[in-house]
Amino acid sequence: MSPRYAHITGWGMAVPEKRLTNEDLEKMVDTSDEWIVSRTGIRERRIASADQSTATLAAEAAMRALGVANLHPADLDLIIVSTSSPEHIFPATACLVQDQIGAVKAGAFDLLAACTGFIFALNLAANMIKTDGISNALVIGSETLSRIVNWKDRNTCILFGDGAGAFVLQASDEPGGIYTGVMRSDGSGGDLLSLPGGGSKYPTCLQSVYDGLHYIHMNGREVFRFATRVMTDATQEAVAAANLTMDDIQLIIPHQANRRIIEAAARGLDFPMDKVMINVDRYGNTSTASIPIATCEAIEQGRLKAGDWTVFVGFGAGLTWGATLARWSGPFPVRRKLKPRRYRWLARLRSILARLRRHLEGLIWGRGKTA
Ligand code: COA
Repeated sequence: MSPRYAHITGWGMAVPEKRLTNEDLEKMVDTSDEWIVSRTGIRERRIASADQSTATLAAEAAMRALGVANLHPADLDLIIVSTSSPEHIFPATACLVQDQIGAVKAGAFDLLAACTGFIFALNLAANMIKTDGISNALVIGSETLSRIVNWKDRNTCILFGDGAGAFVLQASDEPGGIYTGVMRSDGSGGDLLSLPGGGSKYPTCLQSVYDGLHYIHMNGREVFRFATRVMTDATQEAVAAANLTMDDIQLIIPHQANRRIIEAAARGLDFPMDKVMINVDRYGNTSTASIPIATCEAIEQGRLKAGDWTVFVGFGAGLTWGATLARWSGPFPVRRKLKPRRYRWLARLRSILARLRRHLEGLIWGRGKTA
């Protein structure tokens, strides 16, 4: 049997309209534009409106990615949503997205590896295409971190933003797409970046809310030191695993947490900064969404073209870190252009009918009766 490859054939992003600038933050906490820019490179971030959520942003990014790939949602076999700010603990945000876009054949689940989540999800989906025989996968990174940030804590609230990005992965016998993946974890550093409340250790109660356990807690300096070390190692490992060297790489798309971390990693790799994608200045740290959002903008700016070798590399809570090496291919050639956006209405109708059917079955068989 000839080897199968997992190509990235679609990409899309969705960010809220509302911008929160450093000047806005100066009015909320004791900080300054100068401090934030010099320490992080961030100038503004996007904040979800009341009617936006992790699932709605994810579905929006997904529809754009399906549009680029020219793929019908019903042809998806798999949806992975990587997020640290899910719609609920359960059901999985991926299932809500599956319903919203009408991906009737897809298995859907969430993956939690914090800011490294998109890398882990990408590697997982690619391997399922290569070895498990699935054909089409949707990988989404989506966050509404503004909902879990303590807006009174200047150590964290200046860093994060909301947004979503998505890739469509498709199987092909043609070489290209995702080649190697590195996935690592070190739970001994779990306390350095955490959201302690709302789980089984500290279930939500008045006391947990009073103690602020439902917010992000972070040891910034320790996370900084960890990040600069692992970004370099993971990139080198992913590149070496494909028998390539850094000279073969046209673009690195790193997790957008902090400009200084990215610059330190590039220095460690002896890699020129003009071949590293940065947009942290405009979105802040959007966690799992940052790599696909940066990818969409790199393509828009003509910095990533078919045939280019690129490395996606990230780090985050867990601690987790990882990298993915891909040869960029772009959408498969198509005969007829689909309009996946139209299928959203159909999906909504299908969802209403499914709820109605369940309601009617309840009336007929009796609600609450199991036999
Ligand atoms: N405005 C002004 N001062 C601030 C501030 C803010 N928003 N946030 C913290 N400070 C203060 C602190 O209170 C502290 O003051 P102190 O020394 O009197 O106690 C001081 O600034 C901290 O300075 P320092 O530790 O030198 O800052 P830094 O250069 O390490 O930068 C971070 C802080 C958070 C920007 C940096 O450590 C970082 O980016 N870490 C990684 C965080 C990250 O990426 N997390 C997400 C991972 S996915």
